Amino acid sequence: MLMSPLETEIKNILSKYLSPIVAETVLSSRIAASGISLRRLRIGDRQRLLLSLQKGLGRYLKPQQAKDCMNQLESLLNSRNSVSAPAATEHQKISIRSEGDIVVARGAGRQMCKTLGFTSLLQVKLATAISELARNIVQYAGEGSITLHASHENGRPYLQVTAEDHGPGIPNLDSILSGRYVSKSGMGKGLTGTRNMVDEFDIRSSPNSGTLVVIRKWVK
Ligand SMILES: Nc1ncnc2c1ncn2[C@@H]1O[C@H](COP(=O)(O)OP(=O)(O)OP(=O)(O)O)[C@@H](O)[C@H]1O
Ligand SMILES: [Mg+2]
Repeated sequence: MLMSPLETEIKNILSKYLSPIVAETVLSSRIAASGISLRRLRIGDRQRLLLSLQKGLGRYLKPQQAKDCMNQLESLLNSRNSVSAPAATEHQKISIRSEGDIVVARGAGRQMCKTLGFTSLLQVKLATAISELARNIVQYAGEGSITLHASHENGRPYLQVTAEDHGPGIPNLDSILSGRYVSKSGMGKGLTGTRNMVDEFDIRSSPNSGTLVVIRKWVK
């Protein structure tokens, strides 16, 4: 099969450290193992491919050689960031008014998590966090929005979720976040549960402007 230009460039780097036949075998088996298409790199694919190649190289090269080789591969793939990465950043804003919108936000979030390379457990957890935030909007503010933003920083992919409404705000926010709060309308664990499972959690709320929650989770 014809190699894509990127595949040829990766093979050229590998061939500096391995014989051509081994380079080709490592590359094709690692591409197959990671399930990536080099013709259409998606978010998280670079990281997945690098991790996969690292595993493959460990078998054939001394640690220092493997490190040098990985550095070259990393700068090659990073230089491709803006050129051949059609889905480097994905952004989706969903209006939230009803139960149906919660389901849409949940599903879209789950799909984005999958594309980013989160484990299926984390896909479910993040989808649950998204529906908790969306449900709070419907229940307490009436309407608002969920914005899903998938991107990467220094090659590390992340999902950021912003939940925003212009409802009545949360007057007793401190007591809710301290975990001592007892809810009248639910379990009272939506916000603290969400905070516990993400890497970054920011909440702003006031009776004048409503509530804004921003969470971020990194893929490893
Ligand atoms: N967007 C919002 N606007 C106004 N008040 C909110 C909003 N989100 C949460 N609240 C208030 O914060 C409280 C805590 O929310 P949290 O989601 O943690 O628990 P809950 O909704 O009461 O129960 P559940 O565990 O079912 O989510 C709610 O009871 C509600 O009073
Ligand atoms: Mg809730």
